[in-house]
Amino acid sequence: MRTNSPKHLRRGKDGKWEPGDVLLEDVSTDSAWSRQDIFGPSEQARPMEIEVGVGKGTFLLARAKQRPDVDFLGIEYAKAYACYTADRVRRAGLTNTKVLHADADAVFRVAIPDESVFRVHVYFPDPWPKRKHHRRRLLQPAFVRDVRRVLQPGGQLLIVTDHRDYFEHIRRTLANVEGFAQTPFPKLLDTDEHVVGTNFEKKYIEEGRAFYRAALLKRI
Ligand SMILES: C[S@@+](CC[C@H](N)C(=O)[O-])C[C@H]1O[C@@H](n2cnc3c(N)ncnc32)[C@H](O)[C@@H]1O
Repeated sequence: MRTNSPKHLRRGKDGKWEPGDVLLEDVSTDSAWSRQDIFGPSEQARPMEIEVGVGKGTFLLARAKQRPDVDFLGIEYAKAYACYTADRVRRAGLTNTKVLHADADAVFRVAIPDESVFRVHVYFPDPWPKRKHHRRRLLQPAFVRDVRRVLQPGGQLLIVTDHRDYFEHIRRTLANVEGFAQTPFPKLLDTDEHVVGTNFEKKYIEEGRAFYRAALLKRI
């Protein structure tokens, strides 16, 4: 049975979507969504984690399998990767995970509700190494302020990159946004082999690259 979509997550020409859909696309980011808009109704409040730039979805799937008590939203603006990850989520039968095909920058501006997220994961964000492209980097002051807005007090922003220059930029950006305290990077996987186990991390391990990581806690 098809039902009307929540008004902020209308999909397709007929404005309808299946409540069980994994891939959310063609969404309006002009106004705030509720948790229910994204994940559907649940009997009790559940924590939410968001991964930005999921790529092929390896971390998202591993985390979502590990924590069935948490809802996961993966955001990816490359359509092929969003579809690929959504397909993996479907095949794994994960009911706690949605994939949003959208630009995270726009999604975080208004659509994600205030203080609704426990963790925001950003792993191996595109470094845009040329100076003239630096403004395309995701981790800019405005985005970090939006992350702060959506995090619950005590919630965390977690970042891993292999790119030293981008990491320095991230450090300077984080130092200029109030309301965060540095915290040790949590152990997220059951193995010690990887930090977060994304496809880029695995590729860069083979290349012998160093990794830089940051964990910021939203002050209460
Ligand atoms: C270098 S890849 C890393 C993918 C994955 N996190 C990993 O470590 O294997 C960066 C990913 O972030 C996505 N991305 C970059 N900016 C984004 C944005 N503003 N919103 C959503 N996705 C974004 C890109 O399409 C790409 O898939």
